[in-house]
Amino acid sequence: IKRLAVLTSGGDAPGMNAAIRAVVRTATHHDIEIVGVRRGFSGLHRGDMRIIGPRDVANTIQRGGTILLTARSHTWRTPEGRAKGAANLREWGVDGLIVIGGDGSFHGGYFLQEEHGVPVIGIPGTIDNDLYGTDHTIGYFTAVETALDAVDKLRDTGASHERIFVIEVMGRHAGHIALEVAVAGGAEEVFIPEDPKPVDGVVQIVKDSVAKGKASSIIIVAEGYPGGATGVSDAIEKGTGLETRVSILGHIQRGGSPVSSDRVLASRLGEAAVYALMDGKKGVMVGRENGQIVHTPLHETWEKSKDVSRDLYRCAKMLSV
Ligand code: F6P
Repeated sequence: IKRLAVLTSGGDAPGMNAAIRAVVRTATHHDIEIVGVRRGFSGLHRGDMRIIGPRDVANTIQRGGTILLTARSHTWRTPEGRAKGAANLREWGVDGLIVIGGDGSFHGGYFLQEEHGVPVIGIPGTIDNDLYGTDHTIGYFTAVETALDAVDKLRDTGASHERIFVIEVMGRHAGHIALEVAVAGGAEEVFIPEDPKPVDGVVQIVKDSVAKGKASSIIIVAEGYPGGATGVSDAIEKGTGLETRVSILGHIQRGGSPVSSDRVLASRLGEAAVYALMDGKKGVMVGRENGQIVHTPLHETWEKSKDVSRDLYRCAKMLSV
């Protein structure tokens, strides 16, 4: 192997830069050149690429976002778009591609490999933590900290006004962020898509809380829960007559300097991705399970589902008295 390419695709996640840095520096250590592709698959399609070396990634480990930029590409969904991207990789003499992103990005890489034989390795980079084949995804830990910080602040104002705050966190179709934040933030209730329980139940929970002397409550709702935070808030106001406020945290959860757990995970997975290609592996995602590097076929990362921790869910209910 003489030359590899790397790109970031889909929603950015804190720690993506640490992963790019690890890819570049591991490759350089083994005399392999790295081509950085800008703006994900849409840049690959347009040939927006350049060689990046160890100095290009200096001073990036602590930076949020992605220095390679990212995009959600529509052209890549067509066979013609992918053929153009494959031709660009051939022209640059690239022996393999490392894709840092979530399941949409892995789909893009999978089809490139299936149709054009380009060896592809995935690195899980998404705040949602929704990929099978790794205990955590890069960006998840930081997103949880960011959301938790917001929850703590909302609790201050909620307690002062004796209000109920319904807070919506990201996660797409998964409730990992919501559950973690609910436990760490001492929420009274959490709604996740993995357990689409009816929203009416929350009315009794809030009434019980009030009866127990709680004047304010924090309720966490994953964006993937049907109806979202607004639906939950409406049900509470209708059912209890109490004043509620909705706060949708949104894209703030994708920004910021990555916490140490994301930087370390990204560093290990960036290194592992280069080693995987050097070992002749292809069509797999590198992940970390129980502290060990593991390789999972790309299609399994989206075909098999990663459940939320049921123990944590039970614990969340137990502690919200
Ligand atoms: O996948 C990451 C994520 O932030 C999800 O949590 C969210 O549903 C989605 O991306 C938002 O996407 P966009 O940035 O395109 O609005």
